[in-house]
This record gives sequence, structure tokens and C-alpha cells, in this order.
Amino acid sequence: MIYKIVKYPDPVLEQKCDPVGEEEFGKSELKQFVSDMFATMYAAKGVGLAAPQVGMKKRITVIDPSAGEDPAQRLVLINPEIVAKEGKLIEEEGCLSIPGFREPVTRAQRTTVKAQDEHGQWFEATGEDLLSRAIQHENDHLDGVLFISRLSPLKRDMIRRKIRKLQKAGEWD
Ligand code: NI
Repeated sequence: MIYKIVKYPDPVLEQKCDPVGEEEFGKSELKQFVSDMFATMYAAKGVGLAAPQVGMKKRITVIDPSAGEDPAQRLVLINPEIVAKEGKLIEEEGCLSIPGFREPVTRAQRTTVKAQDEHGQWFEATGEDLLSRAIQHENDHLDGVLFISRLSPLKRDMIRRKIRKLQKAGEWD
């Protein structure tokens, strides 16, 4: 199924998510949820999606820098922990929960993450550039941190004001 993506300022986006428990791994519910998250992300033409963006307060994210072009680039990160960051890169960034807004955000150029897969197996993955950015952005979601929190207060307030206007006009649901 394809979920409706939750939009800012829904409070679920700014809460710390709960870890996936050992008893949940290997179950069909978790596999189905991960598969639905990929379907939802591809339908929205995104390269990353975190569980709170579909209203689930769980530490699960899916990433695919190829946006569905290359199955080998699919990454499922459950209970992720960033273990190393290197370098800096400033690039425009957006979020499926804040559609229509893109701003430059400083991120580490290279990120190593430790996470569990759908079977509960721990693994490590290292990403550079777009993948590095996606890992950091999605990991932030699990702590209730949105990319607009990483902008200057001035920029953030400007975006908030524009969203309020869109809400009043009924163009933001
Ligand atoms: Ni996002």
C-alpha cells in the first residue's frame, strides 16, 4: 500500500521514535511495512523516507539514491546509529514532508552508519555525497529533527510563515 505522507507541522514529525524490538524482526508485518515505505517513497519520487513520515513512531528508514532506477542501491536502516562522519558538503536539500521548499544544508560528505536489516542482522554502510546526505537526513527524522531545524532562524521562520499562508489558503494538507 501507498501511505499518505505526513506534512509539517504534524507533531509526529518532531518526536523521538522508538527502537524496533528484537521480537519484531523477521515478521511479515515488518517486511510489509518496509516494502510499503519503499512504494510510498517511489510514488513521491523521493530518495529517502522515515517511518514518522507515514505516522509511525519507529526507528525505520528506507533510502534509495537512484530513486528506483537501481535495486542494488536500496538501503533499509532499522535502529540506525551514525558511527562516523567526515568532511563537509553544502547542497540544497528538501523533504517529502515539507514539499516545495529546498534550501542549502551543511552535511558530512561521508557518513558511516550501523543499523539492523529486516531480519535483525546488524551491518555497516558508508555513503558519500547524496547517500551520505540521505543517511543523515533520515536519521535526523528518527530523532524528530527536520532539515529546517538546521537552517538559520531567519530562513526557518520564513518557511514557517509561507507554510501557514498555504494552510490558510487550503493548499497544504
Ligand atoms: Ni525528510
